[in-house]
Amino acid sequence: MFAVYAASPQPDNPLAALTVGERPTPEAPEGWVSVSVRAASLNMHDLWTLRGVGIKPEQFPMILGCDGAGVLEDGSEVVLHSVIGDPAWSGDETLDPRRTLLTELHQGTFADTVIVPKRNILPKPSSLSFAEAACMGTAWLTAYRMLFVKSGLRPGQTMLVQGASGGVSTALIQLGRAAGYRVWVTGRSEEKRALASSLGAHDVFESGARLPERVDAVFETVGKATWSHSMKALKPGGIIVISGSTSGPDANAELQRLFFLQLRVVGSTMGTRDELADLLKFCALKDIRPQIGLTLPLADAVKGFEAMQAGETAGKIVFTHA
Ligand SMILES: NC(=O)c1ccc[n+]([C@@H]2O[C@H](COP(=O)([O-])OP(=O)(O)OC[C@H]3O[C@@H](n4cnc5c(N)ncnc54)[C@H](OP(=O)(O)O)[C@@H]3O)[C@@H](O)[C@H]2O)c1
Repeated sequence: MFAVYAASPQPDNPLAALTVGERPTPEAPEGWVSVSVRAASLNMHDLWTLRGVGIKPEQFPMILGCDGAGVLEDGSEVVLHSVIGDPAWSGDETLDPRRTLLTELHQGTFADTVIVPKRNILPKPSSLSFAEAACMGTAWLTAYRMLFVKSGLRPGQTMLVQGASGGVSTALIQLGRAAGYRVWVTGRSEEKRALASSLGAHDVFESGARLPERVDAVFETVGKATWSHSMKALKPGGIIVISGSTSGPDANAELQRLFFLQLRVVGSTMGTRDELADLLKFCALKDIRPQIGLTLPLADAVKGFEAMQAGETAGKIVFTHA
């Protein structure tokens, strides 16, 4: 079958590992289903995989793509939950020590067909297109958990999103606005800040800018480049929810500020199947459609990877099947 995959780990030149070609069509074992992929979205995680981060060398070649939407053999339209856990695990799947994300152990969604455990499919809401539904399983689910499970924010409080145009950032802006939070966003260019405003940000700022007042919560995926600003942006007792460190993990911890102002730092990763179901319902109730900046046929996936690597994002990048 047609697939876009990582041939081998390439730590310094990830796109050199990106291969467009043929891979064997997978057969679904007992308890799994075969999904004909209609759309899948690109995540920074796919670039990490090409670099060999979060995946063992023996897992290559690996078909990329952590999330997607498609059709089962009986014609039902589905969205994928890409946290694949131990069948014996009960409770929050993201806390299962044996869980993996699609592409870490099992082949991903940038292909004609993907196989997943039956529990990892949810009905696709009719309100979302396949391309829109394909944004939900990773970036949007991560944003949902950061906002509604981890932050403890109440409507009316102020949130700061570091980064304006990324997949997780745009989801945070759209969801935060719909939930009644005051949404402030930093962005690296005027164009990116304008995008954030168009998606519902109440105010936008240059990266690192002094804010008019301190905020209740900061949402971090950038890491080193924005961390000090995030710590300084918080009210006493405020919270940072972090799910990524795109610019690097080795930030100045600002430990004195942490204890003196009694700040809280909370990690967040992906979300549960139930949280994905609730996210889909929330989007339908609030008529939210994920911001998609670039849609490409899967055969042109390289262009999408190049755009993400260059930081040229304007929301999600989605690959569709003809
Ligand atoms: N833990 C999890 O479950 C989970 C799930 C999803 C994503 N993540 C992580 O979250 C991060 C974002 O993922 P994504 O898919 O949303 O990526 P993306 O679409 O490429 O977005 C990148 C974002 O990072 C910002 N950014 C990058 N470098 C920056 C810098 N030097 N200074 C300021 N801002 C910078 C960009 O801000 P501008 O708009 O201003 O350019 C943009 O908003 C990645 O590290 C990813 O691995 C983690």
